[in-house]
Amino acid sequence: MANPQWTILELLKWATDYFQDKGVSEPRASGEVLLAHALNLSRLDLYLRYDQPLGAEELARFKALVVRRRAGEPVAYITGHKEFWSLDFKVTPAVLIPRPETETLVEAVLEVFRTENGKRKTENWFLEVGVGSGALLIALARELPPTRWVGIDLSAPALEVARENAQRHQVAGRIHFLQANLLAALKPEPRFALVAANLPYVPRPDWEHLPKDIKDFEPREALLGGEDGLDLIRPLVRSAAGILLPGGWLALEVGEGQASQVGTLLQDTGEFEEITSIPDHLGIERVILGRRLETK
Ligand SMILES: C[S@@+](CC[C@H](N)C(=O)[O-])C[C@H]1O[C@@H](n2cnc3c(N)ncnc32)[C@H](O)[C@@H]1O
Repeated sequence: MANPQWTILELLKWATDYFQDKGVSEPRASGEVLLAHALNLSRLDLYLRYDQPLGAEELARFKALVVRRRAGEPVAYITGHKEFWSLDFKVTPAVLIPRPETETLVEAVLEVFRTENGKRKTENWFLEVGVGSGALLIALARELPPTRWVGIDLSAPALEVARENAQRHQVAGRIHFLQANLLAALKPEPRFALVAANLPYVPRPDWEHLPKDIKDFEPREALLGGEDGLDLIRPLVRSAAGILLPGGWLALEVGEGQASQVGTLLQDTGEFEEITSIPDHLGIERVILGRRLETK
């Protein structure tokens, strides 16, 4: 990278080859996003200005980003941004980087609440447990006005990021954020039309095998769900019916291979009907839905 005459396209090719050689995942996309970030351009702009030469300062800025990516740091933490549901979210190492599969949970909830039956419930309170960056509840709050939300997380720094994202997307006035352990801070009375959660669900034996980008950089407490991955989902399922309105919905993201076990957890409470699982874009059963019985 000593040549001061590098053009955008040459540098992009160099970065892709370098990342590939060093075993960095998504080498081309990493190079594009980081170069666009260093030059304050969009990814499309890179190709529109492909033959533009870079100045020494721009090169130095890009090089610093390349060094971080080479060490495994996820692109989203380096740039401080991640797109989810076509919205731009601030992310920091205090929060999980929102994943595309979580959009399955958004779609599942929208499907339920856009029916006539669900529409009547949007004047009630909705809840997300484990908000992280706020991506899920902010996407849903925007799609389902005028819903009012409680957003819970155990992590104070995560809640700070979620609050900022809620401001950015103009839904802060409809969300009350709360630092708490699962539902412990809520009165056990039926108040919510929805309890949604994407809680940590990685089983301990799988932890060691996670890619370095995830294991060494994303918050452990946002990922690890105990021995079988269900340490947090289990108590949430047990207590959710107590705060759900009759006919209200529990919507959970689960890990690969956990859907039938979590479905059974809902079944065993005797409090839910219409228990279904929904696959994500890769065909993995990703979301469990259950409807709180009307008569209990
Ligand atoms: C997998 S992340 C999901 C973040 C976000 N909802 C998303 O989908 O991108 C799980 C979140 O649950 C939070 N969490 C972990 N244990 C918790 C607990 N006992 N009570 C409340 N939140 C918890 C973590 O801090 C983390 O932000």
